[in-house]
Amino acid sequence: MNYRELGSSGLLVSPICLGTMTFGEPVGEADAIKLVHSAIDLGINFIDTANVYEGYKRYLGSPGGTAEELVGKALVRRRDQVVLATKVCAPVGPGPQDRGLSASHILRELDRSLQRLQTDYIDLYIIHWPDKHVPLETTMSAMDQAVRSGKVRYFGASNHNAAQLCEMLWISDQQGGPRVVSSQIPFSLLRREFHNDLPFCQRHSIGVTPYQPLQGGLLTGKYRRGQPLPDASRASEKPQWMWEMDDALFDRLEGIEALASEINVPPAQYALAWALTQTAMSSLVVGAKRIEQVQDAVASTEVEIPAAHFEKIDEIAPPPWQQPDPIRG
Ligand SMILES: NC(=O)c1ccc[n+]([C@@H]2O[C@H](COP(=O)([O-])OP(=O)(O)OC[C@H]3O[C@@H](n4cnc5c(N)ncnc54)[C@H](OP(=O)(O)O)[C@@H]3O)[C@@H](O)[C@H]2O)c1
Repeated sequence: MNYRELGSSGLLVSPICLGTMTFGEPVGEADAIKLVHSAIDLGINFIDTANVYEGYKRYLGSPGGTAEELVGKALVRRRDQVVLATKVCAPVGPGPQDRGLSASHILRELDRSLQRLQTDYIDLYIIHWPDKHVPLETTMSAMDQAVRSGKVRYFGASNHNAAQLCEMLWISDQQGGPRVVSSQIPFSLLRREFHNDLPFCQRHSIGVTPYQPLQGGLLTGKYRRGQPLPDASRASEKPQWMWEMDDALFDRLEGIEALASEINVPPAQYALAWALTQTAMSSLVVGAKRIEQVQDAVASTEVEIPAAHFEKIDEIAPPPWQQPDPIRG
């Protein structure tokens, strides 16, 4: 495994990070523990969870906690082998203090996460979403307090664009607090709206750790045009979490699958290998239900995308429009 730098943190992380959003349901306790142990045995040293994750049972405002509890159980006696990330912001109840990025909510949720994870420190504490109701200075002071208390080593952002990350860096400089070290954004061959923010992350040593790099399984080749949905797949079990599969989507999927077959690589490995070539990528946050899926993800780190494919990929799944460079063309 070629470990990569996680932004300016000094941490080295595996290029694949195990996502745990489905821990609880459909991934029950025994399978979750096996998945975590297998991932570690395969060289993965980075695990992503959130205070709200509880698998398919999750609804807006539900208490969450299940995924963290299962990760905590899996990491008994293995805690030091992983860089453990969890998140805060999303609603965990109906009350006004049950959500968001106030110091009260952050510090209360941090203690609850530590308890569920059976640890006394979080390596990477992630702001799950921006909260426009709380001044960023307040949130950053809470992160500073969390780091100074020893309960958190580094903090990261998720679902923030470059302008929001820039404001964080600016406030860190002003307040003298810790800097944001990572950015977790939605990013895959099919979803590139944050593509133009990647050079900003590179310039400011913010490690990008994209989520859903397989677009929830769409990029694995298991969904076929005109065919019934495969059993025990996310689309058959939790369609609300999946995109609508129309002809335009299948046109793109089939184009990508044809490129993958040119180099005899399964589509999932191809999609992940492509993502790993993108600017500022530290580690891809991949979800898995079975050990073979983790193995597939790890195998993608050995796949090389031929240079001639990148332009073809951009034709099939275009990046966002970029201002032409008037000097260099
Ligand atoms: N920060 C945020 O706002 C945010 C939001 C969403 C997710 N996340 C994080 O990102 C992680 C990944 O998200 P995700 O699970 O939705 O997306 P994903 O990694 O794109 O998709 C994972 C799903 O694809 C299927 N799959 C994976 N490998 C496969 C393979 N080799 N062959 C066939 N199917 C395969 C599995 O589902 P089935 O087998 O059930 O089909 C698996 O659960 C989450 O666990 C979470 O940690 C963060």
